[in-house]
Amino acid sequence: MADPEKAQNRIQELRAEINHHNYRYYVLDSPEISDAEYDALMRELQQLETQCPQFLTPDSPTQRVGAAPLEAFGVVEHPIPLLSLGNAFAKDELLAWHTRISKMLGHARFDFVGEHKIDGLAVALTYVNGRFTTGATRGDGLRGEDITQNLRTIRSIPLSVPKGAPSRFEVRGEVYLPVAGFHKINKEREAEGLPLFANPRNAAAGSVRQLDPRITARRPLDIYIYMLGYPEGGNMPTTHWETLEYLKSLGFKVNPNNRQLSSIEQVEEYYQTWVGKRESLRYQADGIVVKVNQLELQTRLGDVGREPRWAVAYKFPAVQGTTVLKEIGISVGRTGTLNPYAILEPISVGGVTIRQAALHNEDDIRRKDIRIGDTVIIQRAGEVIPEVVGPVVSKRTGKEKEFKLLEAIYDKEKGRPACPVCGSEVMRPEGEVMYYCSNAACPAQAQRRIELFASRSAMDIRGIGENLTATLFREGLVRDIADLYHLKNKKEQLLNLEKMGEKSVSNILNAIEKSKEQPLARVILGLGIRHIGEETAELLAGEFHSLDALSGASREELMSIETIGPKIADSIIALFRQETNRDIIRRLREAGVKLAEKPVKTEKLPLAGMEFVLTGTLESFPRQEAEAKIKALGGTAGSSVTRKTTHLVVGADPGTKLDKARSLGTKILNEAEFLELLSRGA
Ligand code: IVH
Repeated sequence: MADPEKAQNRIQELRAEINHHNYRYYVLDSPEISDAEYDALMRELQQLETQCPQFLTPDSPTQRVGAAPLEAFGVVEHPIPLLSLGNAFAKDELLAWHTRISKMLGHARFDFVGEHKIDGLAVALTYVNGRFTTGATRGDGLRGEDITQNLRTIRSIPLSVPKGAPSRFEVRGEVYLPVAGFHKINKEREAEGLPLFANPRNAAAGSVRQLDPRITARRPLDIYIYMLGYPEGGNMPTTHWETLEYLKSLGFKVNPNNRQLSSIEQVEEYYQTWVGKRESLRYQADGIVVKVNQLELQTRLGDVGREPRWAVAYKFPAVQGTTVLKEIGISVGRTGTLNPYAILEPISVGGVTIRQAALHNEDDIRRKDIRIGDTVIIQRAGEVIPEVVGPVVSKRTGKEKEFKLLEAIYDKEKGRPACPVCGSEVMRPEGEVMYYCSNAACPAQAQRRIELFASRSAMDIRGIGENLTATLFREGLVRDIADLYHLKNKKEQLLNLEKMGEKSVSNILNAIEKSKEQPLARVILGLGIRHIGEETAELLAGEFHSLDALSGASREELMSIETIGPKIADSIIALFRQETNRDIIRRLREAGVKLAEKPVKTEKLPLAGMEFVLTGTLESFPRQEAEAKIKALGGTAGSSVTRKTTHLVVGADPGTKLDKARSLGTKILNEAEFLELLSRGA
């Protein structure tokens, strides 16, 4: 295209088109074209801009990662200070805030906007004459750092806004790293031997404060805009809610989980909803922000110090806390692994007292530089075991001791390291990070196997947990999982155990009886075959329909099943090859445990051959229920999007699975379409 005028027109056309598709993809999560079509548009624009550099402008979509590395960040003065927020840690504090502002506002009627308080970092974005000109960190609230060139790399920040926007305005929002992106970055850092980020917030801050924007560009950062800083010119909305709608109309990404709330009771409900579901969000949130909706009333309420009176952060119960790591203990896992764990000065995190936390393995302890005596950050997430995130290095006194596993388990009498439970020799297989107890008959291993067999996701025998298993073992009442089914003949001995009454004994015996009818997948899971989790157990049950068939399967047969590789195949074969395990299975059968089930004719079912993956939150039912419905209709439910996935079901606030599905061209269903499919099937 030699004609400059034509080139200029086409450049403008292409930019408008690409900006539109960027917006559909990065802001709305709802693209209209394939990645390949998008790439073609970008390439055409790049070529034209190379041919006619006179038409190149900084707001061109090709210019997101153009800038050269900086020596240092410049300083930006905030025309209006960026405030922080007062906190409410419990309902009475929220109500006290409400009472305070109600008094100040007298008879004025007002409502609220509830938003998530995202754990990222606050930024202020300035637009002049329709273009993004300056992006700054909060800094001390009055002055921040100029991180414009890094923020330009975040695709959900528009480089330009539609005509009609105020000639100069500032928006504020939270830049964050989605949890999935955080794990991905840490995995890469681990592979490169770099120190790991403690949490998504630190990772986001570290990414945004890079002098080289090319590094920032590689981090999957995102943003939610939560307020208008100041506008110049134009008629502005009178409520915060309308302001957010207005910002959306300018192309900014606003959190779809924001809600307009008409009473303080509704605020509490909104909070309760998200306390329960915070783990399902694709970002880390540490609370909700409650804002008075009427802007005029916001002004009337004003600020105290650096905090506005018109808003409050109502915090979720803490998931992190700091305490002293007193000692590192070592437990023996189901497969004989020697697992180091932290023995802590007890600390309450979110209302739960924590005395111990996971430490994974020796390499991990060294990589995080955790030492005995350190003050450490503890993290609790949902039901999982709390873990030690890392040390607070600034609290070191110099007296902290490095941990060496082999020294910790050194047995002076034997003159060698020894399993802390049975005293046997320990070993570390080539290429593995874990040490193992070499004794297959180690009582610790046997106990862990019983615990797994009885656990919720396997045979679900309520009442048999770590403590009772240890007691039963010590008293010689069970040695392996099959012995559980003979406990009914040992009622007297059970009644003699400490804390065991008539009622609890009969409950446990009933639970054991009932477990005989559990589906085959649960039995397979309960056997504790290495590398086999719930999903693989179900897959195997569906393929083989009986434990006999599974135990007779050859390596080739096993590996012909999709998703079963050599590692899993070998561990299945290894388990069934062992005489002791064959004996256990024989005794399970004799005891009446169901080890086979009739094949379900999946081919005739309406969703046969389809694999569904879910992302985001569905309104109609919880995820597990949705998966159960899919399976009942002959489909399968996967946890991640692969080439095998036929449908991705997208709920509210979807995660990165959506990007993956788009890049693979997987069929994408919204909730309504999904329900429709289920109802057609039913
Ligand atoms: S409003 C004047 N809304 O929380 C109101 N802040 O402690 C100030 N934050 O520095 C901010 N999500 O980094 C607001 N939806 C949200 C937020 C939010 C996260 C952060 C922000 C701010 C800090 C205040």
